Amino acid sequence: MSETSWVTKAVIPVGGMGTRFLPATKAMPKEMLPLVDRPVIQFVVEEAVEAGLTDVLFVTGRNKNALENHFDRSTEVENLLESRGDATRLSEVMKATSLANIHYVRQGDALGLGHAVLKSRQHVGHEPFVVLLGDDVMEIEDQLLRDMLDAYREYNATIIALIEVDPDQIHLYGCAEVETTSDAQLVRIKNLVEKPQTGTAPSNLAIIGRYVLKPEIFDVLENTKPGAGGEIQLTDALKVLAQDDKIAGPVFGFIYKGKRYDTGDKLGYIQAVVEMALQRKDIGPALKQWLKQFGGG
Ligand code: UTP
Repeated sequence: MSETSWVTKAVIPVGGMGTRFLPATKAMPKEMLPLVDRPVIQFVVEEAVEAGLTDVLFVTGRNKNALENHFDRSTEVENLLESRGDATRLSEVMKATSLANIHYVRQGDALGLGHAVLKSRQHVGHEPFVVLLGDDVMEIEDQLLRDMLDAYREYNATIIALIEVDPDQIHLYGCAEVETTSDAQLVRIKNLVEKPQTGTAPSNLAIIGRYVLKPEIFDVLENTKPGAGGEIQLTDALKVLAQDDKIAGPVFGFIYKGKRYDTGDKLGYIQAVVEMALQRKDIGPALKQWLKQFGGG
């Protein structure tokens, strides 16, 4: 079992097909949909950087060009803004290019999240690392990832973010069977079930898209067979670790109470856009006024 070491690497799988958002995602990854004027993926990368991670690996699929271009320089756009003296927009545009050291690996066939994570093996090497799902957006001020990394360092454990959901929603998530610990925010995970059938879920604690993982997960993923939906599931590999702490130590769940948006889901996406727009100084007041008049039906 490895000693705790400093975590610097973030792996962000963006290779999914985004079927829930078709046809918008036919030619563009869902992670490039804008939340007001920044693509979803930029919020996720900013969260990783805010938590102290300096190296980002995207595991990409088809249509990765827009995403790659977003994190690259665009001299054409930069020159235009410079010639107009538009320093505000210029700094917004430049921000994405200097956030972190960004790398890419192709997933090939989209065989599931577990498969996407396995594709990061060579880049990650024998180090602990963080996985952030590219369509899951957290309130950055809540510092979820920072807290998870603190828990990792304290317990030398795999740490998975969990939220409490309505029991009738748990079948949409990976679900954790847990034991409490002396820390109210941390639970010991005893078992995991991906998308449990209604009435069979061991709890209402759902896995969300933030994980602090140890490199031992890769060997387990190598041997993980397709599970729910015919996909190689990260949850199934984590279940193996949770049931045998000799492999990589214990698996803990960190219960997140803050705000989260599932932007891969149409309703979740619209909620994120409206809430973020309302918080903005430039358009928030006018949107609020309009929402009042509109009445929402
Ligand atoms: P999702 O199930 O939310 O993504 O996977 P999806 O498959 O793109 O979405 P729908 O259900 O078809 O609308 C969770 C995360 O795992 C990534 C996705 O990009 C998303 O960030 N993923 C999933 C991969 O990178 N590769 C895969 O083979 C599957």
